[in-house]
Amino acid sequence: MLKHTEVSLQGSCGNQYGQDEHGMPKHACIYVAGHRGLVGSAVVRQLQAHGYHNLRLPTSQALDLTDQRAVNAFFESERPAYVFLCAAKVGGIKANATQPADFIYQNLMIQTNVIHAAFKNNVQRLIFLGSSCIYPKLCPQPIQEKYLLTGPLEPTNRPYALAKISGIEMCWSYNRQFGTKFLTAMPTNLYGPNDNFDLQNSHVLPAIMRKMHAAKEAFEGDSSRSNAQAESCASGASVKLWGSGRARREFLHVDDLAQALLCLLNLPESSFASLCDSKEEPPILNVGCGQDLSIAELAALMAQIVGFSGRLEWDTSQPDGTPQKLLDISRLKALGWRPQISLEQGIADTYHLVKEKLSRLNQPLAGRTYKAAL
Ligand SMILES: NC(=O)c1ccc[n+]([C@@H]2O[C@H](COP(=O)([O-])OP(=O)(O)OC[C@H]3O[C@@H](n4cnc5c(N)ncnc54)[C@H](OP(=O)(O)O)[C@@H]3O)[C@@H](O)[C@H]2O)c1
Repeated sequence: MLKHTEVSLQGSCGNQYGQDEHGMPKHACIYVAGHRGLVGSAVVRQLQAHGYHNLRLPTSQALDLTDQRAVNAFFESERPAYVFLCAAKVGGIKANATQPADFIYQNLMIQTNVIHAAFKNNVQRLIFLGSSCIYPKLCPQPIQEKYLLTGPLEPTNRPYALAKISGIEMCWSYNRQFGTKFLTAMPTNLYGPNDNFDLQNSHVLPAIMRKMHAAKEAFEGDSSRSNAQAESCASGASVKLWGSGRARREFLHVDDLAQALLCLLNLPESSFASLCDSKEEPPILNVGCGQDLSIAELAALMAQIVGFSGRLEWDTSQPDGTPQKLLDISRLKALGWRPQISLEQGIADTYHLVKEKLSRLNQPLAGRTYKAAL
């Protein structure tokens, strides 16, 4: 068992990140890998909001993390003290099913290069991103950290999962052999600004948001229609979603995740070490909100927020994936952390921020069917 620390996250950092004598000093050199992505950009927002200014933020064009020589040169010249490893090849069911080689190759390369360079260059603390979807497909629910590697994986994302599990094993091995402090956060499904809304690669929540927005716009966007006509057209619209709608998922706003990551990297030395140095269990910690809902319930909530009044069709010829994915977050809660953003508020805020972007993305879809599967 990972040792539980007695120290409260709220008490040790709360709104005072970096104030603890062992937490990250405000001037610390911090590398956020993948800072333009959903998670990385949220981490940067949190860091900046709390006065961290000495950030290293190369894009993938400036530093390709699959290139070992370039990664080593970057660490040798920049010498970051803290690393948030948020860079990865990420995608939904369809992307995982059609690009398995990309998922295993890129993720293995990125994480191997960064974790090894972090060790060689004496990084004080590193946080790696795992995922709830790398637990066995038919895990008991809610999923405890100890269930990792206790059963067969979901076949569709096995290459991704095996790469991530290797990253966890690497963190653990380096901690045991070299005394490094490398921790893996295991987030549930995330959403928020800077999410991926690509129809081929996105996760379920942003995909439903984009589809409903497109359907709503297709029917309401025609200014020649009267309000009454638009309303009656909109209620005649339909959106087709993959699966039965019965699979249950948990969703966390990415700003809540970023806050949890910052809290963890700011724990006092002994508390952080106790999360990393177990000989019996890997250094992983679940991060979720502790509540799930069915995809049908999510779609109903999304329709309400987006203002989509049409019909939902379920394409049951498509897979549901794992029947339920709900994380047990009692270890993180024992540290005092709580999510702050409700699902309804988080989706509403996200939709407000991305609405215009979705309209631009949807333009090429105008006149085409918006019934494509998710
Ligand atoms: N999204 C979720 O729901 C979710 C859930 C659980 C866990 N996670 C984990 O959280 C982490 C971040 O996910 P995300 O959703 O933020 O992904 P994302 O939005 O797709 O962002 C990934 C980032 O990785 C960077 N990247 C990819 N390949 C790279 C390369 N070869 N060299 C350098 N940088 C590269 C990209 O950088 P550029 O923008 O510069 O190209 C991009 O900013 C991943 O490890 C993922 O497994 C995500």
